[in-house]
Amino acid sequence: MVNGKRAVERCDFLGIAPYSDTEDGLYRGYLTPAYAASQRVIARWMTEAGMTTRIDAAGNLVGRYEGAGSRPALIIGSHLDSVRDAGRYDGPLGIMLGIECVAVLSAMQERLSFPIEIYAFGDEEGSRFPLAMLTSRAVAGVLECDIEEPVDSAGASLSDALASYGLETQAPVAADVPGLQAARHPGALAYLEAHIEQGPVLESEGLALGNVTGIAAQRRFSAFVSGRAGHAGTTAMMLRRDAFAAAAAMVLAAEECARAEDADRVATVGSIIVGPGAANVVPGAARFTLDVRAATDEACAALADAILAKFGAIAAERSVTLSVDALHHLPASPSDSRLLELMDAAIADEGLPARRLVSGAGHDAMILSALCPTAMLFIRCREGISHNPAESVTAEDCTLAGRVMLRFIKLLEDFHGA
Ligand code: GLV
Ligand code: MN
Ligand code: MN
Repeated sequence: MVNGKRAVERCDFLGIAPYSDTEDGLYRGYLTPAYAASQRVIARWMTEAGMTTRIDAAGNLVGRYEGAGSRPALIIGSHLDSVRDAGRYDGPLGIMLGIECVAVLSAMQERLSFPIEIYAFGDEEGSRFPLAMLTSRAVAGVLECDIEEPVDSAGASLSDALASYGLETQAPVAADVPGLQAARHPGALAYLEAHIEQGPVLESEGLALGNVTGIAAQRRFSAFVSGRAGHAGTTAMMLRRDAFAAAAAMVLAAEECARAEDADRVATVGSIIVGPGAANVVPGAARFTLDVRAATDEACAALADAILAKFGAIAAERSVTLSVDALHHLPASPSDSRLLELMDAAIADEGLPARRLVSGAGHDAMILSALCPTAMLFIRCREGISHNPAESVTAEDCTLAGRVMLRFIKLLEDFHGA
């Protein structure tokens, strides 16, 4: 019997120090002390559920439950890292439900024709380094990115972080992020991720679970505005080249562009750093992030282009210089059509309606789709709240999710991949 209550309790257990890097609220960064402490506990839970465990070259924790045949592995996963002041279920719940499924199979001494590997991915959120989904990109073999060596806010490079975590780094290869290539997976049967919905649809329709048809496209940028710092008391307004005021106009322009589009197109400036950062100095520099999403690649590109054109116009008007780096471009990722049907069947076999829906949030599944066919199961969360400590799920919904996952896993006996 799948134990959804235990899955929820384990996420709660991991929600505070030492499994959080902060004493107040939850923040678990990639390769931090809280990350290491969490991996140690989860590895124990994996072992108790009948798995062997290892940490791969990207710092992902992997639990493996052997199969009886020679087919490639089914990967079940989600992420262990979190945003700052996070909820407890965004990420870890998918890992815990994977462990629950294996615990049931192992208790029944049931071996499938394929092994199951549970991945606790390291960096989905991008909350430590200015890149997201690094470790699932390493597993899927799609590490190419524009930044050669990401550095965190404390000045530690990714190579430093990997080395101090005891992971070997390699020389940079072409545009690849160094050190992570060895985590590449040899090829999987399928990827399954269970995740809280992070939106209100399921709750508003009175449904516990949803079958994810695909994940919206994402583009993320880092913008740097350079003006001229000056004395706040003596620099006349007309003479100012205030980088922060220009960035503020850009933030509002991004919002206006996205509002002019369909509801499924969104743009967010979620972080800004202003320099030099004193009450009596006109700001000379501002660095901010821009995150743009839409259901299709074309719509996402069009919105990003429109916003960046506005930024350029604002910079010219205010006599500041603007430079923009692309941090990532993740194409929209449809779920595998055959796996969608298997998931519909697994949900129906639990006596539930098979509601299909799109994910506006990004997930490791959108990266794993480069490696193998992918499927996702959404779980209702209270008021659709996420990226917020008020995130909440019920044990009953999680038990149902685990039961559906087990049914789906068994249906894969007759599934023959890409
Ligand atoms: C992940 O939570 C994302 O959608 O940014
Ligand atoms: Mn997530
Ligand atoms: Mn998240």
